[in-house]
Amino acid sequence: MTLIRIPQSWSISENQITPPRLYYNRRNFIKTLIGAGIGASLLPLTGCQGSTSGIGKSASAVELEKSINLPKIDSLTKNPNFQQVDRPIVAEKVAAQYNNFYEFGGTKKIWLDAQKLPIENWKVEVAGLVKNPRTYDLDDLKRKFPPEERVYRFRCVEAWSMVLPWIGFPMKALLADVEPTAKAKFVSFTSFYDPEITKGPGFHLGSLPWPYTEGLRIEEMANDLAFFATGIFGHDLPKQHGAPLRMVTPWKYGFKGAKSIVKIEFLAEQPATYWNTLDPNEYKFEANVNPDVPHPRWSQATEKFISTGPGLSWEIKETLPYNGYGEYVANLY
Ligand code: MTE
Repeated sequence: MTLIRIPQSWSISENQITPPRLYYNRRNFIKTLIGAGIGASLLPLTGCQGSTSGIGKSASAVELEKSINLPKIDSLTKNPNFQQVDRPIVAEKVAAQYNNFYEFGGTKKIWLDAQKLPIENWKVEVAGLVKNPRTYDLDDLKRKFPPEERVYRFRCVEAWSMVLPWIGFPMKALLADVEPTAKAKFVSFTSFYDPEITKGPGFHLGSLPWPYTEGLRIEEMANDLAFFATGIFGHDLPKQHGAPLRMVTPWKYGFKGAKSIVKIEFLAEQPATYWNTLDPNEYKFEANVNPDVPHPRWSQATEKFISTGPGLSWEIKETLPYNGYGEYVANLY
């Protein structure tokens, strides 16, 4: 089984091609983006590390309001098992500007750039080793799987964290609907990608393994915690958070949570995934939150917890094994 997907060379002219090895490291990836014309403001950022620069200042308050002023979700059940975490929920406007969505760029302005995402008539194809392959439209999904709210911790691989009130449905409900066959051992999730729309400068460099993909073992997908979000903060999912459907696996690092999913495929073998293809040493397929296993370039023992309040402020907290969800998932490993 090979985990490294040979990078595709779509959307690229010969003189733009850079040797793939230059990308096999997140920091190099970011440097490449800078080289490709993304502003120097990116420099302090690596991957999903945040920055205060986008909060409140450069952001257009009106645009931000618009991006989160979405239909309230009626008849919402608050799942009583997932309401309490011992930390406060982050302020909505902070979360709505503190995003990663590399298809739209690598700066902390991507919340604004992501507004280009076209979400009308969204379809999600479920394919591969299932008894009932099918394509859902979003209304189907919402009707079939009634929304519930779950308050989960969120932990980025680059050592920041927050608490978010997701709305959606458990992944195991979808499993019951499509019925994977006995051969299905893994699941691959593919994000929306259209080079004509998702173009930040540099994002057509052929060595980047677009579209963004993530994957789980089928037992992980069947776990109680594994969730598909269609909403957050009481309303539909804003585009910058991965509208209209994204993965939420709170015991894993945040990069596992693929946004704007268009395809879910059941497979016999472990699929290639975006960050793992870029650097398999730094971004493992499993990617469970673990304070005892440092990232090759920094410790995971503590995290910057982004606390509540209108501005960006944080306190240092100890990282919890499985991000505090060991009672649900430790038996899987
Ligand atoms: N999904 C897609 N399609 N593209 C991305 O760049 N970034 C990942 C994950 N899902 C990403 C993605 C990373 S690194 C993180 S930390 C989270 O989304 C951020 O989610 P948020 O912006 O809603 O906080």
